Amino acid sequence: MVKQTFKKHVTCIGAGYVGGPTMAVIAAKCPDVKVTVVDINAARIAAWESDDLPIFEPGLLDVVKKARGRNLFFSTDVDAAIRSADILFVSVNTPTKTFGEGAGKAADLQYWEKTARNIVKASASDKIIVEKSTLPVRTAHAMERILNANGKGIHFEVASNPEFLAEGSAVKDLLNPDRVLIGTQETKTGLAARKDLVDLYAHWVDRKNIITSNVWSAELSKLAANAFLAQRISSINSMSAFCEKTEADVSEVGYAIGKDNRIGARFLHASVGFGGSCFKKDILNLVYLCERYGLWEVAQYWEYVIRINEYQMTRFVQNMIQAMFNTIAKKRIAILGFAFKANTGDTRESPAIYVTKKLLEEQAHVIITDPKAIANAKIDLAGCKGTFEFASDPYAAVKGAHAIAVCTEWEEYKHLEFKRILKSMEKPAFIFDGRNILDHVRLFEMGFNVFPVGKRPLTHY
Ligand code: NAD
Ligand code: UGA
Repeated sequence: MVKQTFKKHVTCIGAGYVGGPTMAVIAAKCPDVKVTVVDINAARIAAWESDDLPIFEPGLLDVVKKARGRNLFFSTDVDAAIRSADILFVSVNTPTKTFGEGAGKAADLQYWEKTARNIVKASASDKIIVEKSTLPVRTAHAMERILNANGKGIHFEVASNPEFLAEGSAVKDLLNPDRVLIGTQETKTGLAARKDLVDLYAHWVDRKNIITSNVWSAELSKLAANAFLAQRISSINSMSAFCEKTEADVSEVGYAIGKDNRIGARFLHASVGFGGSCFKKDILNLVYLCERYGLWEVAQYWEYVIRINEYQMTRFVQNMIQAMFNTIAKKRIAILGFAFKANTGDTRESPAIYVTKKLLEEQAHVIITDPKAIANAKIDLAGCKGTFEFASDPYAAVKGAHAIAVCTEWEEYKHLEFKRILKSMEKPAFIFDGRNILDHVRLFEMGFNVFPVGKRPLTHY
């Protein structure tokens, strides 16, 4: 048998929502590159090797299958994969710190630093280390100090290549990114690493969309991009509160302002609030860094994006209680959608978690349904006090309910048989559409009392 040779060996440490899909696409698009994805979580690696992938992402299985066993490999042998790599992507988790200095704001870098020390221990040759995780600005500096104090004469060049994919559209985003950003030092070795990374992505991304910068700009651009995106949602959500007081309609306002090219139409959908593993954590990290540099006004400005998000989730539940005659104790309430957005099973920081917990505090009986997120919902709510249950069938979830709260914009919820649903519910029947995805007038005419976000409620009383 002829042993296949590859031009480059790429390893990714961290086989999560970013590491898995990103490496699958690199492998699919670069058959001359061997890609190995490693993780300390053996169950996750086993799932990547099966057809039951550890994450739900449209189109992902096809991409994985195209390359798996050819030039895409999954393994728990972290040291071996470090040793063989020319380019090492690090995509481990960087959650908000929950202890000590900076608790509740700063990024917890323990997984990242552990990885760096592992790289030092396992390496026997020079390598490019790529920050794929989202990190505080100037992390690369600290990492270079740890890595290059290796005493083995090995040179590690640290580059920043932040990931901009969104869950639910990860494959599409990776195959056709708005841009790929590569930040390196402008030294001889830094520029050589830049060229290697640009050449890797140029296998499928137009070179004009591969942008380069210094390391710190790349690190900050990732935090800034998430902060700007979240800020747009908080901006429109703040307007939704105003609309509810004035009979303006937030969809009409969003459409009207989004028609201005300078503003643009995307990310102006009012909702129950934004969720996901990154917006809140990355803004908190930005706030923490600003405070550390003494930029108090800047810190406060960004912190308000999160405050408005919390306000929006609180308002949603308060509106529910108020509309249902100021008591929801013992009332059955169906949560339609638990994922933080459609087309994913991910529930990290999902507004549905907040809504459910608040409803349970009010002693409501909560029934949760979601096409992909029930397993994660069970973990999120483990140990919660109160009465709650799960139903995979939305019709079973709403049976006998006083109210429905739509928390995720799953396409299938738009096409439910609402006449059948109304028949099976307690009366008066309420729908709180936290995503503004339903046909409110039609539902009202059917007999529902409908409470959208940022629009006049449609009630029969
Ligand atoms: P994740 O929790 O899904 O995956 C991280 C993986 O790293 C886990 O499987 C964990 O077991 C593994 N890991 C941790 N320490 C390790 C070690 N020492 N050795 C080997 N494996 C280790 O996280 P994620 O959602 O993929 O996010 C990863 C990073 O990417 C974060 O910094 C995040 O901010 C950033 N990011 C995430 C998204 C997203 O949509 N989820 C998008 C862009 C950027
Ligand atoms: C977001 C960014 O969009 C990605 O570019 C980034 O790479 C990623 O964070 C990250 O760093 O993790 P993601 O969180 O996966 O991606 O999903 P988004 O589409 O941004 O949605 C985030 C939240 O905002 C969801 O809860 C969504 O429902 C909500 N949202 C989005 C709104 O409420 N209104 C909108 O108009 C848009």
